[in-house]
Amino acid sequence: MDTTLARISHLPAPEGDSFADSLLTGLRKAPKEISCKYFYDEAGSRLFDAICELPEYYQTRTETALLSRHAGEIAALMGQGVEILEFGAGSLRKVRILLDAAQDLRAYTPLDISGGYLGAVVRELAADYPALTLRPLVGDFTLPLDIPELPGAPRRAGFFPGSTIGNFKPDAAMALLRRMRGALNGGGLLIGVDLVKDPVRLHAAYNDSAGVTGQFNKNLMARANRELDADFDLDGFAHYAPYNANAHRIEMYLVSLKRQSVRLCGQQFDFLQGEAVHTEDSHKYTIESFREMACRAGFNPRAVWTDEDRLFAMHWLESR
Ligand code: AVJ
Repeated sequence: MDTTLARISHLPAPEGDSFADSLLTGLRKAPKEISCKYFYDEAGSRLFDAICELPEYYQTRTETALLSRHAGEIAALMGQGVEILEFGAGSLRKVRILLDAAQDLRAYTPLDISGGYLGAVVRELAADYPALTLRPLVGDFTLPLDIPELPGAPRRAGFFPGSTIGNFKPDAAMALLRRMRGALNGGGLLIGVDLVKDPVRLHAAYNDSAGVTGQFNKNLMARANRELDADFDLDGFAHYAPYNANAHRIEMYLVSLKRQSVRLCGQQFDFLQGEAVHTEDSHKYTIESFREMACRAGFNPRAVWTDEDRLFAMHWLESR
């Protein structure tokens, strides 16, 4: 019998939460902003995968090594017969380490905002894991999560790697952790968090010499041109990603190189020379500052693993 349920379901997305609405609202603000969740259409998801391979971007390599090194221990903490639920699943590469180590895995439920990309990567995963019960969901994990229980209501384990939690301001990060805890029905969460470190190293990771991060950043405008018939001049904006040491975060912007106007959905937006559009924050935590936030979100931090250079941390949090 084929136990792979690799058909994609869509979680409900409330009316009005579209790229167009968000862009129009964000560009009317002072200062202007574009939400980082719109990076991840199919082209953006592929650019992000290219970032993960960059020599300067230590995060993916370090986290993958941590997962491999501690897979047995992690699988034991998750327990027998769990359903693994991944938030913002992306390329589905890291989870393979967990799938290989898991004890009698009941199902794997990847949730991602990019339906096209999820469809493509799920087909590859299903081919490599023919016996796996796979339940891909297209949806936005920043919205209320109501993920139907599988028959027998297996215990859930959450997986949220890549320091995606860092893209949220501390208040929103805490709210998101609470929401995930709700979706886990009492299960634990394995979460990857980028650590506070040498600013030079952080700066390099978001300002790579090949310019891939710049392309990824500009994909927001390229996507608006593709999907919404906007007329952003991609050469008229520059990638800018400084480290804000007080707030412990990398901030990403697209800076207008000249005075210019852009048309979008029948409206005109004016940019001053040097005006910055905020596109992303990437917060960094210490092990202690993250454990404290997890506690306040209703988790008991149990285990934490880090590499010798203290670049990245993986936390196992239990629901309280
Ligand atoms: C998606 C959270 C892993 O903040 O490092 C990479 C996205 N932005 N380079 C991060 C990103 C610029 C990223 N995460």
